[in-house]
Amino acid sequence: MTTTDTLIDRIKTHRVFDHPLYEHWAATPPSAEVSGALFHQVQSFCAATRPGGEFPTALRSLGWNEQALLIEEIVDSESGHGPELATMAGHIVNRTGSQVFDDVYDTTRVEAWLKSSSDRLLAGLPGYDRETGLTPQAAAAIEVFRRRFSSDAETTVRNLGTALALEIISNQSLIPGEKRALIDSGHYKADLDEPEMHYMAEHWGDDGAEQQHEANVIKAVSSVMDASNSEQIEQGVEDFLSSLCALWDVLDAALLASGLQQAE
Ligand SMILES: [Fe+2]
Ligand SMILES: [Fe+2]
Repeated sequence: MTTTDTLIDRIKTHRVFDHPLYEHWAATPPSAEVSGALFHQVQSFCAATRPGGEFPTALRSLGWNEQALLIEEIVDSESGHGPELATMAGHIVNRTGSQVFDDVYDTTRVEAWLKSSSDRLLAGLPGYDRETGLTPQAAAAIEVFRRRFSSDAETTVRNLGTALALEIISNQSLIPGEKRALIDSGHYKADLDEPEMHYMAEHWGDDGAEQQHEANVIKAVSSVMDASNSEQIEQGVEDFLSSLCALWDVLDAALLASGLQQAE
């Protein structure tokens, strides 16, 4: 039978784990518009991963109370993270050399500008939705998290696998990759101590939110996975990895090293 360790190993060896997008973002400073378009797609995806929906209640109805609490802890710790991510994005955009925002705490204005950058650079891609500003790949990755609003047993078990992949990728790949691109690269002269970078400070490192999320979800999955449900859990892992990988591929191709970057 598949063990949690096997699944963790699969997540950490998937192509998305070391996706070249992070390296390409860190290699050359993207313009304000490219940074804005990247953040629009990334923040739209992240926003979809925060709500718990019916997931904790559905876990309880399977008799998994402890697991429901572990997931609720993750959901509760996400409150306020949307505006904080917008502030960081606005700050990064301002640090590209163009002073786009007077107030990076004006979430509505920042998010609207990020979307308009996305529209300007990505609307020509097949399937781009002008209303939401989503690439079809972002929409598909978001769709995986809409399943948290269904409470049937099969979907609930599958959602556990998706949560496992989300938290391991967030903690060990996405947040460290963003830190390399936004801070370590020196492009934006940003650092963890700046109040506008609070989102990164809160998520990154051994004391970061993602470390706790990862520990919670590993505990939840390993305590319920057995031969009767491991296939569905694996499927949930795969849904996450393949949809995020497709999103990173299109953003990398359209906005970074293999796309517009040479024209910067
Ligand atoms: Fe968060
Ligand atoms: Fe997380």
